[in-house]
Order: sequence, then structure tokens, then C-alpha cells
Amino acid sequence: MDKRLKTEKLTLGTCYYPEHWPEELWADDIRRMLDNGITVIRIAEFAWNKFEPEEGVFDFTFFDHFLDVAEKTDIKVIFCTPTATPPAWLTEKYPETLNAFRDGTLMRHGLRRHYNYNSEILKTKTAELVDRMAEHYASRKCIIGWQIDNEFNCEANEYYSEADHCAFREYVKNKYGSLDRLNEAWGTVFWNQTYTDWQQVFLPRTTPNNVVNPHQLLEAKAFWSYSTRNYCKLQSDILRKYLPEDVFITHNGFFGHVDSHEMTQESLDFMMYDSYPNFAYVLDFNSKNPMKDRAWSWNLCHIRSISPIFGVMEQQSGPNGAYNGGIGAASPKPGQLRLWTMQSIAHGADYISYFRWRTSWIGTEIYWHGILDQNNRDNRRLKEVSELSKELPRLQQIVGKDYEAEVAIAFDYLNDWDSESDGWHGPVGRKSQDSWFDAMQKAHVPCDFLYFTDECSSDMLSRYKLIVYPDAAIVTERTSLMLHEYVSNGGTLVIGPLTGYKDQYGRVPMTAAPGLLADIAGGTVDDFTFVSRYDENPKVVISGKELEAPLFNEMLKPDSAEIAGTYCGAWYEGQPAVLFNRFGKGTCWTYGSAFSEEAVLELLSKEGISSPAEGIVSVPESVEVAVRGRAMFLMNYLESAAKVSFSVPKKDILSGDIISGEAEIPGFGVMVLDLD
Ligand code: GAL
Repeated sequence: MDKRLKTEKLTLGTCYYPEHWPEELWADDIRRMLDNGITVIRIAEFAWNKFEPEEGVFDFTFFDHFLDVAEKTDIKVIFCTPTATPPAWLTEKYPETLNAFRDGTLMRHGLRRHYNYNSEILKTKTAELVDRMAEHYASRKCIIGWQIDNEFNCEANEYYSEADHCAFREYVKNKYGSLDRLNEAWGTVFWNQTYTDWQQVFLPRTTPNNVVNPHQLLEAKAFWSYSTRNYCKLQSDILRKYLPEDVFITHNGFFGHVDSHEMTQESLDFMMYDSYPNFAYVLDFNSKNPMKDRAWSWNLCHIRSISPIFGVMEQQSGPNGAYNGGIGAASPKPGQLRLWTMQSIAHGADYISYFRWRTSWIGTEIYWHGILDQNNRDNRRLKEVSELSKELPRLQQIVGKDYEAEVAIAFDYLNDWDSESDGWHGPVGRKSQDSWFDAMQKAHVPCDFLYFTDECSSDMLSRYKLIVYPDAAIVTERTSLMLHEYVSNGGTLVIGPLTGYKDQYGRVPMTAAPGLLADIAGGTVDDFTFVSRYDENPKVVISGKELEAPLFNEMLKPDSAEIAGTYCGAWYEGQPAVLFNRFGKGTCWTYGSAFSEEAVLELLSKEGISSPAEGIVSVPESVEVAVRGRAMFLMNYLESAAKVSFSVPKKDILSGDIISGEAEIPGFGVMVLDLD
């Protein structure tokens, strides 16, 4: 089902915490927001005690009072269920609601997200609270939507409480039916891990060197995802009972061990993301590498794969830093706040909400700045937001319009989870994914991310001219069927090393890789090696060019495929490195080495895929190109101006100017070209 944000115009919001400030400030804060183009606020995600100060005692006066103030103005509200921070009265009385580390030590009250999703008490208390809140606030006209909890699995994404172990046992009992089947799926005959009673089955626990059964660990991640989704659904089912139809339900974030696609399908109207591009600079303040901000374009591609039109619930608006040390980063430079907002918009965000209105004067986030500083003065950042809000109506034509791409990088959760803990799959897959994304960013070829989930159909695949599945150690039967259909019908598939060597449990069956995809590939893997830093420097020779062959090299054995490239510079010199196969109406490239950026460019050029900017404007690497509808965004991530050269005159929608010939995009500047 299509899960997209529906709005009539590009809208700005901010995160507001009435519980942090004297009541006398509320009206003035809202007035200043509206004066500066901010028309929506998100509130209450950490305020459980304000609704239930004691067990079973509900009190809505605080937020009633705040909403009365808000309702005297035009501000709209996204209200939150405050379950990210269960109260001290609850966790002290019922410690079974707390999450635990793998060794069983409980995570205590004092930060946030300290709870587990499987405690019956926590679920009961959550249901009661959400029910009371929904019933009480459903008729408030200023509330346009609800956010469930806050950033599921942000601080912790592994759960080892007693309640989790018990729920896991039930989960695998239902899944496998018998211990024999579980033992087989988890390969427990290895190192005598065989279970003879269900009571012996747990989530992974502390072991001599903390390495655990990989199949059990993969199962645990799927279980944590299932638990997270259920906790979200528990809340959304209750909210739906009370909310008017036009009030949306959403969640913010994209974190580990939760299938956010499935969660959105089951429980949400669309997904929101929290975008903090300055993290890219935290470890390396002085770098001028223009790809750094693109790490956030990468994240936005993930969110777009869930909701083509989405919202950014928290857009960075100030310098970040944590009280406990660790993180400290520069203030957004003049222009960067606007640039990052445009980056979100270019990728499909029609709602952008800044974190937060005013920086907290208390707690662990006194350095995690919002638009305003604690001193509450109008400042440079507010001015930038305000000016930006006046530009947004000029972009009205892109509202609701999808990001355009002919290439998709395919992902799936099983491989994401498996690769995290696998010393081969992880680095090889990530290197290949990065090479594809970075090379396409530098070549200005927009791409989508496509998740092979249960909702994904061959129909969704057929939108793309080329699909690369670079991290596919596990190929399931469902995915294999979709890919067979896609290629048979004329699509181009690209696969890389380690494809299809594992099954859905993460075991390595006795079939030659790429397993279920061998017929599409038209060949198999005959031999392979990791390329260590002590090895020679192997290359892939393709069309007479020598390309870097990093990390892992598979020597391929063609069946119906042609050999399109060979290795040189290693003991396997001359052996096949690249296969090209025709299958039905389509084609498949099998690349034996982890992809390098130059390999990606070579394959794109062989497939005739070029940038939508070609023939219009030539831009340097520091500029990201994105197309939504009939508008082309050119975003310069460097502080210095970018020289661009137009082949045809185009109108910049933002400035209204017609631009031709040689031109400049200022440092951190943005142009949006009208393609009509
Ligand atoms: C987000 C979180 C916010 C705030 C912010 C700090 O992850 O949702 O509550 O902590 O980070 O930048």
C-alpha cells in the first residue's frame, strides 16, 4: 500500500517542549514561530509523567492548557505518545519493564529508551495510557497527526530482558513447531549446541568470547524487529479507534533491528526521518570531502524507499554535542541550514521540522542546539529559517512529486542484519554498496533504494532500467522469483561477489554460488579469495581498462554467459572476473570483485545510463543533482562556489533568473531548475 505524506504545500515545523519552559513563554514562542514561517509543532514525546504522574492517576491539565494556548493561534500540532521514556515510578515498581544488556544487567532509569517491548506490564501500561490520551485529545482541532514513541531502537537495538527471552522462546516455538526443526535451522550440531528442551532456548547470552551461534543471532534480530513492530502496532491500533480519518499516524527514525517498511505497512500512514547531516563532520572537522553530506542523502534514500513522500521530523538546526562528551560539532555555517533543508526536500520531504525551537537549558542536551539558543534572542539561524520559509512557495510545483531515478540499489533486512555480524559479508557488501552510491552521486545519476520486502512486487522492480543487488549473500526464493521475472521481462540486473552463498538462516548450502540466481547469471563461482592488504594489487580488465578489484575476488565459471572481464595482477591472472548473460528479454552482469567506483561507471556507461543533467548543465562533484517532477535540484555542499556550465538556458525557480553559459552556485547554495 502506498504510504506517503499528503500535504498541500511544503511545510515547516519545529519540535517544542512546553514542559521545559515557563508557561509565560508559550504564547510568545508560538507567535514568533508563526512570524518566521513555522506552522507546525511536535510535542509531548517524552512527557509521560505529565499525563500519568502516579500509577493509574491520569491528569491532562498541563497539555490541555498548552493546547488552549496553541488553539488561539494558527499553529498545528503533531502530538506524541510519550512511551520513549517510561517513568521512574513504573520502572522501580516493575523492573521487569527494563531492557537488559546481554549479560542480564538491567538498563536503569536515567536516560531514555530503557524499556523492553515484551514486558506484559509495560504493554498494559502503554495501552492504558495511549487509550486515555487518544480518547482525551482526539477531538482537538489543532492536532493534525500523531507520532508514536520516539526513534524506536535508537539508543539500544538489542533486547535481553527476561520478558524478551520468554517471548523469543514462544516466537521460535511458533515458527519451528519442533526442536528438531529449530536445531536444524540453527545448525546446533556444530559445537554440540543441540537443544533437547524448549527451556534451554534463549536469545544469545554471554559466551566465552561473546561470539554466538550466527543463525541464532540472525533469528534474534528478526525477533527484535517483530517485537518493535508489535509495540508500535499496539499503539496505532488504539489511536485508530479514536482519531478522525484525516489525522495521520507516523513515527520518526530509521534504526537497527526493525523492519521499518513492514512497521509502516502495518501501523503508520507514512514514515518520518530525523536528519542530522553535521554528524558527517563530527569525526573530521576540517575535511572538504564533498561526499560527507551525501551520507545523509544515503539515509534519505532509505526513507524514500518506505514513503516516497515523507517528512523530516527533526532537521538539524544548530550545532550538536552531548554533555557526556564524545560528540561535538561545528554550528551549521551560513547557508547550510537552508542547504540541508533543500536536500531533504529534493529527496521527497514535503514536511520539514527543525529540532528544536530553543536549545534545552537542562539535561544531557544543553549542547544539542535548536534554532534559538537558551538566551532566546532572534539569531542568525532563525533568520535563515525565516528567509527560507519565504522561498518555499516558489517550489509549489514539486509538492507530492516523486524523486526520479532509473537505477535502484536493492536491499533487504535479512542481508542488512546478517552482514552486521559477518566478517566477509559485511565489509564486502558495504564496500560494494558505497561504491555504487558514491560513484552515482559523483556522476550525478540519481538512484532509488529498493527494499525486497513482502510488499515489493515485480511491478515495483519494472520501473527501473537497472537494479544492482550488491549485498545479497542471502537470496530468498521470493526474491529470486522476482528477479527472474524482472530480468525475463527485459530488466538489467547486476550482482556482486558473495551473492547467494547463504540460505535464509545464514547457513552455506552445498550449491555453487550464486545459488538460486545461477541461471540468470549464466555461470557460477569456481574459486575465490579475500584480498588482504598483503596481497598483490589485483585488477579487473574490462574492455581493455584495468580497474581496481578490492576486498574479495571470485573466479567465475561461465555456463551460458560471456566472459566480459578477467583478472590480472594475481595468481588467478586471466581467469573470468565478469560475466554478462542474456536471460529472457533482459541481461545480468555478475561482477566477481567487490565493486570499485570505476567499475560502477564502466557498467553504467555500457548500459547507456547517464545523468539527467547531461545536455542541460555540467556540474562538479560537490554538487548533488536530484529531480522531482519537472524540477532539477543542484545542491553545492562546499563552502566555495561551484562553477557550472549550461548547454541550454534554464530558469532557476528560486531566484526567478534565466541562467545560461558559465555560472556559479554560491558556497552551500542551491539552484532549482525548471525543466519545462
Ligand atoms: C534525536 C532525538 C531527539 C534528540 C536529538 C538530538 O535522535 O529524537 O530527541 O535527542 O536526537 O539531536
